[in-house]
Amino acid sequence: MAIPVIMDCDPGIDDAFSLAMAIAADDLNILGVTTTYGNVGLSYTTANALRILDWFGSDIPVYPGIDRALLGKLVDASEYHGATGLEAPEIGPPTNSPQAEDAVSFLIRTLQASQEKITIVASGPLTNLAVMLRLAPDVTSKIERIVFMGGSTDYGNDSPAAEFNMLCDPHAAQIILDANVPKTMFGLNVTHQAIATPARVRAMRDLGNDTGRVFADMSVFFEKVYRERYGFEGSALHDPCTVAWLLKPELFETRRMRVDVETNSGLSFGRTVHDIWNIAGNSCHTDVALNANVDGFFALLTDLLSRLR
Ligand code: BDR
Ligand code: CA
Repeated sequence: MAIPVIMDCDPGIDDAFSLAMAIAADDLNILGVTTTYGNVGLSYTTANALRILDWFGSDIPVYPGIDRALLGKLVDASEYHGATGLEAPEIGPPTNSPQAEDAVSFLIRTLQASQEKITIVASGPLTNLAVMLRLAPDVTSKIERIVFMGGSTDYGNDSPAAEFNMLCDPHAAQIILDANVPKTMFGLNVTHQAIATPARVRAMRDLGNDTGRVFADMSVFFEKVYRERYGFEGSALHDPCTVAWLLKPELFETRRMRVDVETNSGLSFGRTVHDIWNIAGNSCHTDVALNANVDGFFALLTDLLSRLR
């Protein structure tokens, strides 16, 4: 039986990889894609989600989400992803339209009506999911797990302390971290291991299909800041770690711990705090990814891309 999932995302280049992997995987059944502001504004992320799905010939519905943080000021990551969030000319403008229903209503309706628990894969700011939990706390009983990219056990990327998705909306993130649902977290400490080196990008291109070529080009576009700022050999494929873990959890080492996020202003605003020794004695329901089998991750990614157009 395929795992039912809802993908909450802000595509975004690495979000696009994540969507492609989920579409290709027989073991996942995508019930819907919900969009959030994040890498770029909501109108772009929604259009980009539709562009990707259209290009793959998928009619999975796309529900536009909330366009700003609960409290924080708007930041974006267009420096990494380009002005539109997905500078991939071959993936044309969307032909399908977003649904009239908003993301939060879709999430609540779908979870409440579902006979089975649903997994939520979140690869952007957590605003939609936080509002969902505030409006309908009962949905926690229908959530199998929230698998999210965000935070870090060590340093940040959008501030010295904080990772981008967390920094976008730390208050929303804290609502999710407090929720009594199982969670798996992919922070920069592990996603910065998933580097699309030239050899790995070549392997995508050598697949010989449209997807391999277009996604190889997208990773080359994405790597500029990673090379210049971090001295990495290529781009970091953050968001696809979530889907890879769902399909092959053995690729990652995880450890359960309490995670919180700094919501007070100051140097550490948006930083995740990891109670690895359970010093505070609080409930622990976040499985934090610590290490990845990187070759295994790229083998899975390349295999999934090979199954697409
Ligand atoms: C995260 O921020 C975004 O730019 C990426 O899509 C990823 O979700 C990495 O910090
Ligand atoms: Ca993202």
